[in-house]
Amino acid sequence: MKQDFEQNFSNSQQPCVLVCQYRSCLAAGSAEVLAAFKEADLGYFKVTGADCQGQCSSGPTVRIVPEETWYCRVKLSDVPVIVEEHLQGGKRVEAKLHPRIHMRFNF
Ligand code: FES
Repeated sequence: MKQDFEQNFSNSQQPCVLVCQYRSCLAAGSAEVLAAFKEADLGYFKVTGADCQGQCSSGPTVRIVPEETWYCRVKLSDVPVIVEEHLQGGKRVEAKLHPRIHMRFNF
């Protein structure tokens, strides 16, 4: 059964942490990841569950909008790192960036 999430933030200018709460991500622990983000001090970032983000094989998927940062395979232990370094410190956590979306080229 599909959940109704608070609001569709994917097209919003409100800074928001979207944590996928669909099948594959749920099976990989995204409910716990969402709960941990909700408990954290995120300042002006909102946090909400989200429908499938189209990255099911690499979940739990965490997408930060409107800046469009995509994290993959986010574990419970990654949440404090993302909160401290990115959401509070303003620096993306390179090790958790989704490689298909944040491609890196070395020439
Ligand atoms: S189930 Fe989470 S990205 Fe598809």
